Formats: sequence, C-alpha cells, structure tokens
Amino acid sequence: MTILVTGGAGFIGSNFIAYERRVHPEDRILCVDALTYAGNMENLAPFMDDPLFRFVKADIADRQAIYALFEEEKPDIVVNFAAETHVDRSVHDPEVFLRTNMMGTQVLMDACRKYGIQRYHQVSTDEVYGDLPLDEPDLFFTEETPLHTSSPYSASKASADLMVLAYHRTFGLPVSITRCSNNYGPYQFPEKLIPLMISRALKDQTLPVYGTGENVRDWLFVDDHCSAIDLVMRKGRVGEVYNVGGHNERTNLEVVKTILRELNKPESLITFVTDRPGHDRRYAIDPAKIHGELGWLPETKFDDGIRATIRWYLDNVGWLERIIAGEYQDYYEKMYAGR
Ligand code: NAD
Ligand code: DAU
Repeated sequence: MTILVTGGAGFIGSNFIAYERRVHPEDRILCVDALTYAGNMENLAPFMDDPLFRFVKADIADRQAIYALFEEEKPDIVVNFAAETHVDRSVHDPEVFLRTNMMGTQVLMDACRKYGIQRYHQVSTDEVYGDLPLDEPDLFFTEETPLHTSSPYSASKASADLMVLAYHRTFGLPVSITRCSNNYGPYQFPEKLIPLMISRALKDQTLPVYGTGENVRDWLFVDDHCSAIDLVMRKGRVGEVYNVGGHNERTNLEVVKTILRELNKPESLITFVTDRPGHDRRYAIDPAKIHGELGWLPETKFDDGIRATIRWYLDNVGWLERIIAGEYQDYYEKMYAGR
C-alpha cells in the first residue's frame, strides 16, 4: 500500500512518517511538501535512503503537480498534514492560510476523486471549536460541539473540514477527520510555545508569555497523535470526525515554569507581553469516541513527554541553531539536489 503524506517535512508529519515506518514497515510512504519556512528536510534525513520512501517537493494547491503525481503513483491513502499552522502568522497574513489550508485541501480531494482512493484523511485541530471558558472545568469539546472559530488559522481549518465532509456527502469520497489538541515533541518548529521557550531559556533570553499566562492548552505527545491518526485512517468509520486528546490540561504559565525547572533556569526570565488578538482561553478535548470505537488511548504522560522533549532539544541543539540561523533552508539544495 502507498500512503501519501502531505506536509511530511513539518513537525507532526515527520513524526508520523517515523511512526508508519516503525509500525507498518510493509507500507510505502510518498511524502509531498512545499518546504515552506516550516518544512525542514533535516526532519526527513532518516528516511532518504529507505527504498520504501519517496520525497517530492510540491505545493498541494498546485493542481497540475498534484494530478501528475497521482497519475504516476496512484496512492491508496492520503493523509493531509500540509498546512499553514501558526496562529500568530495568520493574524498578520491570513491569505496564505486560505490558499494552503482550504484550496490545497480541495485540490487533494479532487485528485482523490479523479484517480480513486481508499481513504482521504484530514488532520484537523481542536481550534475549529473555538474556546472554552476558564471557570467551567467540566466542559470539553466533543465531536458535536459547534464550529466557532477565533483566528484566520482556525477559520481556514474549519472551512477545510466542512469541505471534506461535503465531498463525502456529495461525491461519496471516503473521508475521515481527526481534530487534535496541542502537540509537543521532537522536531517542532521553534515558533510554537514549548520549543520557543526551550530555545530561549537555553540562551538565558526572556520568555514572552502572552497576557496573564492563564490560558489553558490540552497537551498531547506527538507519537500519541500519530497512533490516533493511524488507527482512524485504517479502521475509523468513513465520513466521521474523531477528537484526539489526552486530558493533559496546563496553563501556559505552568508549562513555562516546568521547562525552566527542568533546565534549571530562573523564573525571572518570564516576561508578560501584550496578549495575542482573539486569544483562545481554554482548549480541552473529550476523546470518548475514539477510545470507545477504536480503543485508542494516549501512552505518554505529560511529565515524561516534556522531559523527553527537552532532552531531544538538548541533544539536537544543532537542529535548533540551523533553524534560528536560517541555514536549514539551504539543506534541501545541498543534500538532496538531483535526487
Ligand atoms: P508544521 O507547520 O510544523 O508543518 C507544516 C508542513 O506543511 C511543513 O512541512 C510545510 O512545509 C508544509 N506545507 C505548508 N504549506 C504547504 C503547501 N501549500 N503544500 C505542501 N506542503 C505545505 O505543522 P504541524 O504542527 O506539523 O501541523 C501539521 C498538521 O496538524 C496541520 O494540518 C495542523 O493544522 C494540524 N494540527 C497541529 C497541531 C499542533 O499542535 N501542532 C495540533 C492539531 C492539529
Ligand atoms: O490546539 C491545536 C493547535 O495548537 C494547532 O492547531 C496549531 O497549529 C498549533 O500552533 C497550536 O496552536 P496554539 O495557538 O495553541 O499554539 P502556540 O504554541 O502558538 O501557543 C500556545 C499557547 O501559548 C497559546 O495560549 C499562546 C501562548 N504563547 C505562545 C507563544 C508562541 C505565549 O504565551 N507566548 C508565545 O511566545
């Protein structure tokens, strides 16, 4: 079976490829990525000599390129990770979010219709539900929670979800969707909270916490997200949405203080800065459906996962430094030109 993984040079996509090679070594992985600022060929270095892995540099919104690839490869499953993913960037420049997250999704699904597919899986986010209040801890997002987005990022992801469900109802495309909470782990780009704070703390730089730091996120170790996607794309019911999360709620301030403690750095590095416009207060997932139907449960506790993540960044300071210096963007040309 050939699995087309889009956005595989990013954080979760590259972890997913590693997961698939480990757990389903018989399946072939075809990775498509446009290598935007968030795409890093270093994340794919472990697979480049693997005969069951192929990398293609392409934009998912480029209809001609995507159709040509489907014509040649006829993938059995498509898992769409490719997206613009940073909320702060979407506040400054919404347009590219609409192009990639909405139009790119549509192009991929059109290719699936044209060439045939066993399953199209959309990797979505809990942000499509908007946010929950801070003072009602018993409220959680279920699959029935209405879509109610806050940022251009979440609006573009919700639009894509609606289009995916419309392609199922109207054209019978065999789709599924997972909506996951905040991920953390190796290879996360250092613009997101956890790797940003680790990289800055390592240099004794100030740690910018938005607002009061009381906003809550529901953290899931990336491998647990990968196992959920793998289960849903292979065994989940067609046309269904599954929420993914592990009941690991922490305030941002708690997360930042944990990082400082683990790195043995002072809390005086914390600096409260102007809040993100439209900042969602709390995300919290009810994962009862994926657990009940597919038996999925997360394996990694936050305390273990955050320690392993910090250890990974300490062991891979070069990876971090090359991103901060911008050198990682030359990596593709240097290492893989002509392959
Ligand atoms: P990321 O920003 O680390 O990686 C995104 C990847 O997509 C990059 O490799 C980038 O080059 C590629 N890409 C961007 N535009 C493209 C295009 N037009 N064509 C082809 N490739 C393109 O993102 P991530 O954190 O790994 O997120 C992956 C997916 O998971 C996204 O769809 C995101 O919405 C979703 N998600 C993320 C989280 C999280 O906490 N990070 C949680 C839930 C859902
Ligand atoms: O919930 C899933 C979503 O999680 C994904 O869909 C997104 O792609 C992913 O980026 C993430 O969105 P968040 O906005 O929650 O992640 P971010 O790391 O940007 O911020 C996490 C929290 O930390 C949020 O409340 C804002 C805060 N923050 C973030 C940064 C970058 C700070 O206080 N300071 C910062 O410098």
